Amino acid sequence: MALDKNIVLVGMMGCGKSSVAKVLGDLLSEYEVVETDKEIELIENSSISEIFRKKGETYFRNCETAFLHQIKNKRKLIISCGGGMFIREENRKLLKTGSVSFYLSGSAKTLCNRLNGDSSRPLLNCENVEEKIKSFLKERTPYYELADLKIDTNLKSVEDVAKEVMEKFINYGK
Ligand code: S3P
Repeated sequence: MALDKNIVLVGMMGCGKSSVAKVLGDLLSEYEVVETDKEIELIENSSISEIFRKKGETYFRNCETAFLHQIKNKRKLIISCGGGMFIREENRKLLKTGSVSFYLSGSAKTLCNRLNGDSSRPLLNCENVEEKIKSFLKERTPYYELADLKIDTNLKSVEDVAKEVMEKFINYGK
């Protein structure tokens, strides 16, 4: 039974981590939703775009790791990770302790459609967003696949994905 653990959501920008975490938080009222990007924005008193612009990506990646150290002893969290969080080995180790991790997958087309018109992702600030997403997927999928479980989000509603995560979490290790 996994119920005293954390739920960790990983995957590409646009896979629905934040929306799914929100619905999960309503379904599992004892669990606290933690959005790593939001927490970093609070700590740094700056938006993600501004952090990238003023301090660079490496600084942001170090903020991500530092934040995971801050919460490493907490449980019953639903941790919605920024899309690059699961790439660094140290982050994976921290996230995979005391948790069940879920890779929310989606095709480049699906992710691109979901991100349409959203300018808050500095790494997608480019001409051909779909091509960029494809290249990120190629590079990152092997890391995302290291999550405990994978859920295909293509053609599914946020509510359906959240219910699937909850059911798999409750039954994990039974
Ligand atoms: C990033 C994803 C973003 C945010 C930052 C970098 C990435 O989070 O952490 O812009 O490297 O994929 P979301 O996945 O919530 O968009």
